[in-house]
Amino acid sequence: MELRVENGRIVYPFSVGFNSANGELDDFDTHIERYLSKLINVFADADAAWQYLRDNGDKLIYEVYEKNIPEVDGEIRFCSSITYPGKIGDEYFMTKGHFHSRPDTAELYYCIRGKGCMLMEKKDGRYVLEQMYPGRAVYVPGHYAHRSINIGDEPLISLPVYPGNAGHDYGTIEDSGFKHLVVDRNGKPTVIENPEYGRM
Ligand code: F6R
Ligand code: MN
Repeated sequence: MELRVENGRIVYPFSVGFNSANGELDDFDTHIERYLSKLINVFADADAAWQYLRDNGDKLIYEVYEKNIPEVDGEIRFCSSITYPGKIGDEYFMTKGHFHSRPDTAELYYCIRGKGCMLMEKKDGRYVLEQMYPGRAVYVPGHYAHRSINIGDEPLISLPVYPGNAGHDYGTIEDSGFKHLVVDRNGKPTVIENPEYGRM
């Protein structure tokens, strides 16, 4: 259904279908696809990322379906976020991660399918890892960079909901990375310090 927007605000109720098997939103307005070839520096082991590309060709790591809700105070934006299973070296497939441009805005992720975790990290490096699995919601407070990580073997599908005016600050993470990584150690997701932190 078309969103009814007047003067930059949603003015008419609507509902939307969410496919819990593949994560697709009905009548989405925007579809973002993030391929490994554009995410080389997101992973700590860039050599392993290049090797993956040589061995497998390009790979869709995650995708997002969005409705074009106005990015203003008072609106609520939501989307479908789908991260595929796999690893680069021993680091699980994950989203780029970001702070919000309005850093004090929070977000709620409701997990629909798969097994993962949400890495949340403050600028001073303090972090919290929360589990994601169907029926569980993760609250990301303001001032925490956040990234979803697929530690399972099926797509990790979640429904993030956040204030319309939150915006995305990707630059801070692009410049220095997260201070922590979640890697596979003997089949177990394990948090380690990022050896590349500060020099991405
Ligand atoms: C919005 C939000 C999610 C992510 C999505 C993709 O504030 O946190 O909708 O945008 O999970 O991750 P990024 O944005 O890090 O590429
Ligand atoms: Mn966010």
